[in-house]
Amino acid sequence: MTENIDIIESEALASLKEAVDDAALEQWRIAWLGSKGRLKSLMAGMKSCTPEERPVFGQRMNALKKTLESAFKSVGDQSVPASGPPIDITEPGLPAGMGRQHVLSRTVDEIIDVFSRMGFSVAEGPEVEDEWHNFNALNMPESHPAREPSDNFFLDGGGMLRTQTSTVQVRVMENTPPPIRIISPGRVYRPDTHDATHYSMFHQVEGLWVDKGVTIVDLKATLFNFARTFFGPEADIRMRPSFFPFTEPSAEVDMWMPVRGKMQWVELGGCGMIDPNVFEAVGYDPEIWSGFAFGLGIERIAMRKFAIPDIRWLFENDARFLRQF
Ligand code: DAH
Repeated sequence: MTENIDIIESEALASLKEAVDDAALEQWRIAWLGSKGRLKSLMAGMKSCTPEERPVFGQRMNALKKTLESAFKSVGDQSVPASGPPIDITEPGLPAGMGRQHVLSRTVDEIIDVFSRMGFSVAEGPEVEDEWHNFNALNMPESHPAREPSDNFFLDGGGMLRTQTSTVQVRVMENTPPPIRIISPGRVYRPDTHDATHYSMFHQVEGLWVDKGVTIVDLKATLFNFARTFFGPEADIRMRPSFFPFTEPSAEVDMWMPVRGKMQWVELGGCGMIDPNVFEAVGYDPEIWSGFAFGLGIERIAMRKFAIPDIRWLFENDARFLRQF
């Protein structure tokens, strides 16, 4: 009986060799391995076996099935489609879309460029922060109103998303002895409702200059030089007295800059002379060192510079909008 199966096996393998295209292969599969194929009907022969013959027959049939299946699989793996349209290798390919820098990244790069010419290097800090770096070290104690849960993204299990890049001032001073001259561009987070001028994530650029004998004149000169280089020869700055916990005195910074070709005052951020409490928090002696800091809103700069009326457009990733810059 098993000799019979040997003959059937060679017959099956021979006819598989003759199957030259996908259609013939499929026919072979149906004829031999299909649910009504030869293998199935041979199996039915089990019934006429004696109890002693049965295991031998069964084993031989299993081996046959394996042989045919793997022979079919290896032929199928090598087969090339015998029909179908020919490939025209001279046909032009699909045009590859050219990417471009996002208008905000471009603004950040230009800001870095201007400040690096004034000797600032770039420092980075984490977006997931602790309250020490976001508040305490910046002279904002537990009782400070900006620490309200509704004004911050506090994280389960401790920590928070930073609300300001001023955190990086603290991190740099903690890790580096003075003198220091850095800027730090990056994302900050506040739970604001989204509208044309508010978003729960935006970008700031922080500046920090610490040395012996730094005065408010250096602060003003630095911001003025930035404005002239970034916005053009007519640009100017104005400082309006204000309050920030980490600077004393503090001011709001406005820049006289072109908005759709017309010069205008635009409020860009805050600045001031580093508060002695901040120096003490990072272990600098306020009797020896002095310095200034500033923080500017990057969306504000880009939106005014490029006349973008809605902050949400910056984050929707609509290529039709982004391609314009
Ligand atoms: N961190 C402030 C804010 O997010 C902006 C700021 C004000 C930064 C004064 C400064 C500064 O470095 O000196 O509103």
